[in-house]
Amino acid sequence: MTAQALDEYDYDDDHSDGLSHPKPRGADFSHGIALYLEEVSVWFDSFRALNNLSLYIEEGELRCIIGPNGAGKTTLMDVITGKTRPTEGSVFFGQTYNLATMSTEQIAESGIGRKFQKPTVFENFSVLDNLLLAAPKDKRVMGSLRRRLDADTRNTLEATLEQIRLTDKTRLPAGLLSHGQKQWLEIGMLLMQSPKLILLDEPVAGMTDAETEHTAELCLRLKQNHTLIVVEHDMSFIDAISEKVTVLAQGAILAEGTLAEVQENEAVIESYLGR
Ligand SMILES: Nc1ncnc2c1ncn2[C@@H]1O[C@H](COP(=O)(O)OP(=O)(O)OP(=O)(O)O)[C@@H](O)[C@H]1O
Ligand SMILES: [Mg+2]
Repeated sequence: MTAQALDEYDYDDDHSDGLSHPKPRGADFSHGIALYLEEVSVWFDSFRALNNLSLYIEEGELRCIIGPNGAGKTTLMDVITGKTRPTEGSVFFGQTYNLATMSTEQIAESGIGRKFQKPTVFENFSVLDNLLLAAPKDKRVMGSLRRRLDADTRNTLEATLEQIRLTDKTRLPAGLLSHGQKQWLEIGMLLMQSPKLILLDEPVAGMTDAETEHTAELCLRLKQNHTLIVVEHDMSFIDAISEKVTVLAQGAILAEGTLAEVQENEAVIESYLGR
């Protein structure tokens, strides 16, 4: 058992074999593509935030999205998570889920987790309770109730605490964590849902250099079991984690390739990186 505090919980040991068995999800990645956006446009009145955007994210990929302020990066995440509806075009999660027709809750349940830029942890609750509150509804129990945690939830909890480096802070009110630790806790809250696709919007904004480095390591570990889309302005962070980078500008793709490739692209230099 990782955290001593966890031993206060009764848990259903019957199926415990030390392995985590996340619920099988319905998303069908049989073609190797986790996310399809095809010719997506988003209009806000007469302003076009996304402009005929087509994007394909492979299963297991860690895709970085960069671009100037107002390029449409957050709008893209809003479209994937159902917060904003595409005015035109289609958005599919695997072969089966037509995200444009699903509610934000249905999209989350289908296996897509999103971290917003501002941490939204419950400051008065402990790290442990924040994570347990984020568990799927049928498994949700509060620490103070000391109800039974089933083996799956307990395994997910322990693995998550290790991933986010908060194993020794389970009893601490989240409000007392550093900014970086709050960001990791929020990523942990996503992990409690065992998402297949994780969207991170500016995860290292406001972090110290050391916290940024830890977050890069965390992203690379998450990549072993998840597909990730990461939006960031911090180029040293992008350099540490990136494979394929997509540059967005004025709602459309300006360039795609390795960071080194896009950094040499004339159009990218003009519109984003500057000379
Ligand atoms: N709900 C909305 N109504 C009207 N305009 C919006 C709305 N949401 C976003 N926009 C506009 O769409 C454009 C794209 O915004 P978005 O937040 O997607 O940019 P971004 O690439 O995430 O920028 P940043 O790097 O600053 O976070 C901006 O001009 C923004 O003002
Ligand atoms: Mg944004």
